[in-house]
Amino acid sequence: MIKRKCSNISIIILLFIIPFTGKTQNIVEPGNHEKMEWFKDAKLGIFIHWGIYAVDGISESWAFHNHYISHEDYMKQLNGFTAENYKPKEWAKLIKESGAKYAVITSKHHDGVALWDTNEDHFSVKKNTPAGKDVLTPFVNALRKYDLKVGLYYSLIDWSYPDYPGFLRDKPRYSNDTARWNKFIRFNMNQLNEITTQFNPDLYWFDGDWEHSAEEWSAKEIRENILNHNPKAIINSRLQGYGDYATTEQGLPVTKPKDKYWELCMTMNDSWGFQHNDLNYKTPNQIIRIFVDCIGMGGNLLLDIGPKADGTIPAEQEEILKELGRWTKKHKEAIYGTEAGIPLEHFYGRTTLSKDKTMLYLFVEGKPNGPVALKGIKNKIHRMYVVGNGTMLNFDIKGKLYWSSVPGICYIDLPEHTLDEQVTVIAVLLDGPVELYREDGQIIESN
Ligand code: GLC
Repeated sequence: MIKRKCSNISIIILLFIIPFTGKTQNIVEPGNHEKMEWFKDAKLGIFIHWGIYAVDGISESWAFHNHYISHEDYMKQLNGFTAENYKPKEWAKLIKESGAKYAVITSKHHDGVALWDTNEDHFSVKKNTPAGKDVLTPFVNALRKYDLKVGLYYSLIDWSYPDYPGFLRDKPRYSNDTARWNKFIRFNMNQLNEITTQFNPDLYWFDGDWEHSAEEWSAKEIRENILNHNPKAIINSRLQGYGDYATTEQGLPVTKPKDKYWELCMTMNDSWGFQHNDLNYKTPNQIIRIFVDCIGMGGNLLLDIGPKADGTIPAEQEEILKELGRWTKKHKEAIYGTEAGIPLEHFYGRTTLSKDKTMLYLFVEGKPNGPVALKGIKNKIHRMYVVGNGTMLNFDIKGKLYWSSVPGICYIDLPEHTLDEQVTVIAVLLDGPVELYREDGQIIESN
């Protein structure tokens, strides 16, 4: 009893400490989980890195920070950002076609150049580039027209702002100057306020929080301001412990992340922004399989595109989005609104479950050399069919003995003509919520 009390107390203490230490990335306030529902059901988002870095095709902001080019030369790219073929409605349409439910665009990267018409005395594509206009508003409007949720990426870091301490990797502007830092924070808060009031994003995607602590950024206040304006706004984890969901980058987790809500952001090639020289694209097949891994582990994929400086989307990226769209449309019932699937021991591939857990979806990669096996399912299986194709499948349960509680192995015949060219999905309709056999087997009791 005493022990129990102690652990309850420590849990309460932990609940108070965690949000302030930055140890956890999900601090969705109790009672506010319903705001996460659309995000959890969305599964696919498209990330957009669009900025002056696309002019020369060099790495976004890091190119000068890491001394690959001088800051002066980096900023010369302002002169080449024309956006002359920019068609925000077509971007939104393509995103919709890919099957994504939300998009996240770089309103401002670490280089400090705003895509919207900021009132602050700092760079923007309207003031400082031949584009000469706010390119963010029409895109936000187009997303809403297509019923897509609006995510705005905002870099806390601003390496071009004269009062921000960080500049070149090994050359900070200053290390201890409260007055200058406060000036920067005022500027940062003002820009964020513009974002909040002008765009009211459904999702705030912060970046660059690693350069300062939560207190220095005023992270708590940033969160409060956002939620005061819109209690339903979702905030990613890069706010020093004040976000709602975990944001992992590039590396696909292989075991289910502990966070309830998570998203993998990933490039199609090796760059976030457009780079002429980076043709190291993942194939649609690889991307779809990575996507399947994410949804099988209950997460989202935020897949990045990097439009060119004139506003066109590179052909390779468009092709990937279209093939992804074909696949997500065909398999929508196995994707949206599903939950993480069953452990890999039961099926050697990823799975998802319907919310009521009576429908199990098996994702089959490649061409099986024999029947597909499903193990340890205690339920009665009512029927099976190929998702998006409708073919009813024959299956056969082998090795189920009358005296044993170990379920037999279910062998499923998956005819070649039903295979999808990327990943085939089998729907398994159960007699109730899935029940798994996770014991150690049984010894003989009869014969
Ligand atoms: C990193 C980089 C940045 C990129 C971001 C996307 O934090 O600083 O260049 O925009 O990841 O996740």
